[in-house]
Amino acid sequence: MRMTGWTFLKGLFLVGLVSTSLASGTQEESDGAPTYHLRTGERAAAPLQQQHDMILSDLEAILKECGLKEGMRVWDLGCGTGTLTRLLAEKVGPSGHVWALDFSKAQLDVARATLQEDGYTNVTFVQHDLTQPFAIKEDQKGDFLVSRFVLMHLEAPKEAVGLMRDYVKQGGACLLMEPDNSRNSLARPCEQAQSFRKTLLEVGEKAGLDYSLGARLACLCEGVWQVKSVREKCYQNNATGTQKLWRARLEEMEEKLLASGMATQGQIDGWRHMIDNLSSKEEGWYSSALLYYVHGVKE
Ligand SMILES: C[S@@+](CC[C@H](N)C(=O)[O-])C[C@H]1O[C@@H](n2cnc3c(N)ncnc32)[C@H](O)[C@@H]1O
Repeated sequence: MRMTGWTFLKGLFLVGLVSTSLASGTQEESDGAPTYHLRTGERAAAPLQQQHDMILSDLEAILKECGLKEGMRVWDLGCGTGTLTRLLAEKVGPSGHVWALDFSKAQLDVARATLQEDGYTNVTFVQHDLTQPFAIKEDQKGDFLVSRFVLMHLEAPKEAVGLMRDYVKQGGACLLMEPDNSRNSLARPCEQAQSFRKTLLEVGEKAGLDYSLGARLACLCEGVWQVKSVREKCYQNNATGTQKLWRARLEEMEEKLLASGMATQGQIDGWRHMIDNLSSKEEGWYSSALLYYVHGVKE
């Protein structure tokens, strides 16, 4: 477990591509997700949806290029609150099937409730820790698997990438998606915005998250998956989008930043002022985030 000695802070920052949330240790233990340091359940849903919406048009095209089609059987590994699961369930249709797997009960509860409410009957929810082998039945083996924003949370992502092979049959495909937040940029890098981002990145790093995993994703697949393509995509948020995201981050983290001594009240007030004024910079993009897509095949 990465967080040893740092239990006071369960937060993560995502400038566009990795959500920030704070969760309590006891909640995580009882939730079945002891090694996950972000918020789970209802409070995780909105930022995950926001990220999903930002990349949606690209994602749909990439899934198609990677061969996802109607009737397929697909695994969504680390499905969270089910935003990607829903898209997959739509794409494979009633003749296909999606297994949505996560180790967090709270995440699965939200995903199950929203998808059932919307009438999806082609999804099965599975609670399992991806770092452990899964005793998959032959008739559960998929044609395709996806995993988005999950490996960056794991202490041994290479091993997890290897275990993922078990979820698909021979010739089956994977599409793995992870960010490289270390290379995110700002169109107008003022001192306040830079220090805000730097502090939030430090928060995540202390929590054991690997923000630059995306850039190493294809290497992690070597010897496990036959890598067919690697895409690096840059997503740009305008000032209003950035403001929305940063406001939520600051609200979520203010208390912990103060308690941990990672920021003073003066710094926090300065960041809030900077964020409040972002809407005056509404011209083109304001902040950007990088995402890697790796498509592999089990040969
Ligand atoms: C940032 S969320 C991403 C959710 C979803 N893939 C998406 O893109 O909206 C990461 C998810 O990975 C799950 N997760 C993290 N470590 C896991 C593990 N060892 N086994 C299973 N799920 C895990 C978390 O519970 C969380 O729901």
